[in-house]
Amino acid sequence: MSDLSKLIADTRATLSRIASDFSPAVFASSLAAEDMVLTDLILKGQYGIGIFSLETGRLHKETLDMLDKVKAHYGYDIAVYKPQAEAVEAYVAQNGLNAFYDSVEMRKECCRIRKVEPLGRALAGNKAWVTGQRRAQAATRGSLQVEEDDAAHLMTKFNPLADWSEEDVWNYIRENGVPYNALHDQGYPSIGCEPCTRAIEPGEDVRAGRWWWENPESKECGLHVVDGKLIRIKKG
Ligand code: ADX
Ligand code: SF4
Repeated sequence: MSDLSKLIADTRATLSRIASDFSPAVFASSLAAEDMVLTDLILKGQYGIGIFSLETGRLHKETLDMLDKVKAHYGYDIAVYKPQAEAVEAYVAQNGLNAFYDSVEMRKECCRIRKVEPLGRALAGNKAWVTGQRRAQAATRGSLQVEEDDAAHLMTKFNPLADWSEEDVWNYIRENGVPYNALHDQGYPSIGCEPCTRAIEPGEDVRAGRWWWENPESKECGLHVVDGKLIRIKKG
């Protein structure tokens, strides 16, 4: 068995376990490459794990196009969660549309309104959630586990691709004809909101284009941290 076949088999085993022991469970998709690998595995394997995306209102057109691409390729409608309009309006009225460039606090408040609060609504009523995070992705993810206790949402959190490399992700996508975000071919290995993501030069860190004006240690948006701390307790 090749290394990639082994990773795929392990990931399918994780997804089966989630389906049998943690139902209902949902997968949070940012519509980027890792998440398309999981989308392909989840939908082809018919695990009954729902898929949702947080539509922050600041995503690239290419990212939004992925919703239609998934529908056309798999016949599946990804559930879309949006921020509360009043909260966005109040933030913009008080601070301006792009206040997230001013300070880490302003940035985290924007992420809280546009991502973290809608995430809470998307996760409500589930026993577990699934993400496309990988250990090799970031300074903040070196100790990522496949299965963790998410103390913030009081449920189990699975990162089935924790052991995958970026090369594994792209080999899977090519070998399986998985649709992917057009920005990946334009220098964007990691994609978030449009004003907070830029293309990188060859050789730069894969997350160098995310919140590029901040230190690597602060580059988490609150989906995976609480009060500045990563919630990463391995299930025993
Ligand atoms: S982020 O925290 O810095 O934004 P990143 O883009 O690396 O995260 O994505 C890590 C994981 O967080 C994704 O694999 C996905 O599970 C989840 N995620 C990030 N952004 C979104 C989004 N807009 N909608 C749903 N899930 C998301
Ligand atoms: Fe706001 Fe940028 Fe966070 Fe998106 S990534 S929610 S635009 S601060």
